[in-house]
Amino acid sequence: MAALMAANDGDAVAYGDDEITRTAIAQLCALAGAQSAQLVFTGTAANILGLSLMLRPYQAVICAESSHLNVDECGAAERVLGCKLLPVQTPDGKLTPDLIASRLTGRGDEHRVQPRVIQLAQVTELGTSYSLDELRELRAFGQDHGLLTYLDGARIANAAAYLGCSLADIAAQVDVLSFGGTKNGALGVEAVLVMTDGLADGAQYHRKQQMQLASKMRFLGAQAAALLADGLWLTSASHANTMAARLADALTCLPGVRLAYPVESNAVFTEVDEQIALRLQDDFNIHIWSESGDGNCVLRWMTAFDTSPVDVDQLAKAVEASFHVKPDRA
Ligand SMILES: Cc1ncc(COP(=O)(O)O)c(C=O)c1O
Repeated sequence: MAALMAANDGDAVAYGDDEITRTAIAQLCALAGAQSAQLVFTGTAANILGLSLMLRPYQAVICAESSHLNVDECGAAERVLGCKLLPVQTPDGKLTPDLIASRLTGRGDEHRVQPRVIQLAQVTELGTSYSLDELRELRAFGQDHGLLTYLDGARIANAAAYLGCSLADIAAQVDVLSFGGTKNGALGVEAVLVMTDGLADGAQYHRKQQMQLASKMRFLGAQAAALLADGLWLTSASHANTMAARLADALTCLPGVRLAYPVESNAVFTEVDEQIALRLQDDFNIHIWSESGDGNCVLRWMTAFDTSPVDVDQLAKAVEASFHVKPDRA
């Protein structure tokens, strides 16, 4: 907010040609080793812009079945890009070369859509992070098979914090990626970073057509700059991860609460009995992530840059207390 107030002082050139935005873009490119960076308003817009740089109309995107792109973007890729998604079921939200290979049928057949992009998310929709070795293996597989790699980095900061690596370490393994700000404390800013020669051509036109060119771009630039200053993006994400680990420890001490996926970011997924989940819903605005069909369901818990240890401990206590309340359902 302080950065926004500061950016509000005086006049500035519109559409991103202002000092604040130019500096933020240069910093982002330097941090990631990227050739270009475009700021946009939302994570969905970042995914659409990033993919639009990589696809021709007859080409398709291989993604995890559980990915945000496939599940939670209201068909934006299908509608805005007109492209086909080729989803693959995964045990933990992560694609592997074998899983991708299962969608590589029909190549060279003019009747079939042609897979062109592997879409990864770091972190994944299930809170897991690809290791750098896994990313390297996927990149090599993509290169061997004529596939480009796009990485949805709405929560890439949490992955970098978890892996103890730099943004450039992750970015070097893909062709285009997004860098999320909103999930990491910004008011609303994401960036699309291009790593590979030629893919940034026309990016500014795509962004404008996709209605993401802000006339008052300095306010997006100011948010990006604030996140990058003094490594705030990484310390905030690292703090959120620490709070998630604390929450996971507290929740798994409760009887009948198990981790559904390893905690590798700021997300905790727990499997609990359906009855307990319904009871928790009476006390909390809690979202049931999925139902296993065997009387259990998965709950997702997220922590953030501003989650405090006291918040976590109080929540864990309140959850524990609600376990002891008798359900009043007949
Ligand atoms: C991994 C991932 N990608 C993309 C998005 C989309 O972001 P937005 O809601 O800003 O469009 C989200 C939001 O939850 C996300 O978690």
